[in-house]
Amino acid sequence: MDSAPPAAPPPLAGAGASTPAPARMDRCQTGIEALDAILAGGIPRGNMVLVAGSVGTGKTTLTLEFLIRGAERGERSLFLSVTEATAKLVQNVASFEFFQTALIEDGSLILLDLPAITAKLGFDRDELSHEDLDILLRTIRDLVRTLGVRRLVVDSITSLGYRIPRDEQLRDFLLRLGEILAEADCTSLIVSEISPEPGRYSARGVEEAIVDGIILLRSTRRLGDILRVLQVVKMRGSPHSRALYVLELTPIGILLAPHLKGGRAVEE
Ligand SMILES: Nc1ncnc2c1ncn2[C@@H]1O[C@H](COP(=O)(O)OP(=O)(O)OP(=O)(O)O)[C@@H](O)[C@H]1O
Ligand SMILES: [Mg+2]
Repeated sequence: MDSAPPAAPPPLAGAGASTPAPARMDRCQTGIEALDAILAGGIPRGNMVLVAGSVGTGKTTLTLEFLIRGAERGERSLFLSVTEATAKLVQNVASFEFFQTALIEDGSLILLDLPAITAKLGFDRDELSHEDLDILLRTIRDLVRTLGVRRLVVDSITSLGYRIPRDEQLRDFLLRLGEILAEADCTSLIVSEISPEPGRYSARGVEEAIVDGIILLRSTRRLGDILRVLQVVKMRGSPHSRALYVLELTPIGILLAPHLKGGRAVEE
């Protein structure tokens, strides 16, 4: 007697008859090895991620390393600096071995001062009007498109936010920026400066709902030392650990190690 299992019925013709295998999500490797491991390979490409942290927690270093690792892989990278003049920024990061001026010289890493851009656009008032923001978004879109930018950093949305006083305007600006970047398949890190209190990811409380992901940097005092710690709080489209990692800023770049439990930790 034939014991072979009955053959599967042929697939039905027509819509929905066969479910295509889900396409493997294209990920943007941050190039920070341990972070890519936490993020199952990297940030889903085109996503906008908030890097939130209090003063001196490593926000600028992390976002710059993300751009440099991308530029090394041939992904053109753009840093829009709002807080710190880029000339000074280059001096500050020059001591990191991973920083290569050659990437700036060959145009793979572009550093621009946002206040210089807004001045050039003729926005002479501190507060940006709806029309100014419209023009600024179109300028960023054109830069990203014409230069083929694959990675973008805005450092910081908090400083830019001082010029966008109404929360609805800030929300609208970020939503539209996210759309523009997703359309261009450009992955972005948006820096958010926060106070050290736990549970906050942005000064205005607007940004965290819009972005696709949040990476939180904090300082913790432990047994007399101040440690920097990193936690991935959310990342749409990606499984990830929410564990705390100790972050070290080393000459070769950012290193992460699991944060051991126990002892008394105090938020800084
Ligand atoms: N070459 C270096 N090697 C190791 N650590 C460094 C080096 N240069 C700076 N740092 C450390 O990095 C810290 C600042 O990091 P970074 O500027 O990335 O932080 P931030 O969160 O952007 O700060 P801010 O809130 O001021 O913008 C410094 O306080 C210093 O301790
Ligand atoms: Mg900074």
